[in-house]
Amino acid sequence: MAPPVRPRVLVTRQLPGEALDRLGRHVELRVWEDELPPPREALLELVRGMDGLITLLTDRVDAPLLASAPSLRAVSNVAVGYDNIDVPACTARRIPVGNTPGVLTETTADFAFAMLMGLARRVAEADAYVRAGRWRTWSPTLLLGADVHGATLGLVGLGQIGAAMARRARGFGMRVLYVNRHPRPELEAELGLQRVDKATLLAESDFVSLHVPLTPETRHWLGRAELVSMKRGAMLINTARGPVVDPAALAEALAQGHLGGAALDVTDPEPLPLDSPLLQVPNLLIAPHIASASHATRGRMASMAADNLLAALEGRRPPHCVNPELFL
Ligand code: GLV
Repeated sequence: MAPPVRPRVLVTRQLPGEALDRLGRHVELRVWEDELPPPREALLELVRGMDGLITLLTDRVDAPLLASAPSLRAVSNVAVGYDNIDVPACTARRIPVGNTPGVLTETTADFAFAMLMGLARRVAEADAYVRAGRWRTWSPTLLLGADVHGATLGLVGLGQIGAAMARRARGFGMRVLYVNRHPRPELEAELGLQRVDKATLLAESDFVSLHVPLTPETRHWLGRAELVSMKRGAMLINTARGPVVDPAALAEALAQGHLGGAALDVTDPEPLPLDSPLLQVPNLLIAPHIASASHATRGRMASMAADNLLAALEGRRPPHCVNPELFL
C-alpha cells in the first residue's frame, strides 16, 4: 500500500529549538534557509502547492499570496503580533491562523524594561563614551540621566505584556498609569495601577511604554499632536510595532528636545535605513526588534507555532488561533 501523502509545509526561515525536527516527522517540510526573508516573488512561487505555512512577521500573507496557494489550509505565525497577515482574507478561505501569545510575555517585558532603564541611565552612550577614549576623570556632571524610581510610567495597552511591565515598574517604585480599551480592576487592585484617559497619560507620564497590537486604530496612535502633548523631557519606549508612532513626528520631537529620549525595538520601516532622521537625533536607543529574543523563548515560540500548524492541518482548532470563529 502506498504511504499516506504527507501535507506539504513551507517554513520561511530556520527556527531555533526542536520544532522543525518534530514537524518533519509529520509533514513534508520545505525550509527557506537564507538569513533574509524570501523576496515576495520567491514567496509567491514557494507557496504554490503548500498545505501549511509557518511565517514570521516579515512575511506578508495577503490576498495575492492566498491566491497563489490554492491548497493552503493552515497559517501559523511565529509571533504574538499578526499584523503581517490579512486575517479576514484567511477566514474567508476558511484557513485558521495561529500566533504565539503568552510564551514571550516575560521575556518581552524584561527587554522593554531594559530599554527603559538603558535610556533613562544612558547605558549605550556611557559604553560608547568609554570605548571612544573620552573617560578622563570622575565628574559630577558626566552623563546625567533620569531617575526611574519614583517616576510615572504610562502604559499604552494593558494586555499580558503591559501587565508584566506594570509588575516590573511597581518593583522599581514607579507610579503606573494605563490606557486600555477595557478597565482591568483586578490588576488595578493588585498593582495599584490607575486607568486614565489618553490626554492624562501623555501629560503626566515621565516614561510612556507602548504595548498595543498594530491595528487601524493604533496606527500613528502617537502622532505630532500627541507627542507635543507629552510632558517635556518624557521618554518613549516602543517594543510593540513601529507604525504605532509617526516616525517623522518622533524625530522632530526628539530633535527639538521636547522629548528626553526614545528607546525603539521596533521601527517603521524595519530595518530602519541608515539615513533615517531618527538615527540623526540624540537620545535614541535602538535595537533590531529583539524583545522576545532569548534562547528559551524563541524555542517556545517555534514549538507553539508547530503545535498550531499541526492542529490546523488535522482539522482541529489550533491551541492559539486568531480566527476561532472558524471552529464554532
Ligand atoms: C514580535 O514582535 C511578536 O509579535 O511576537
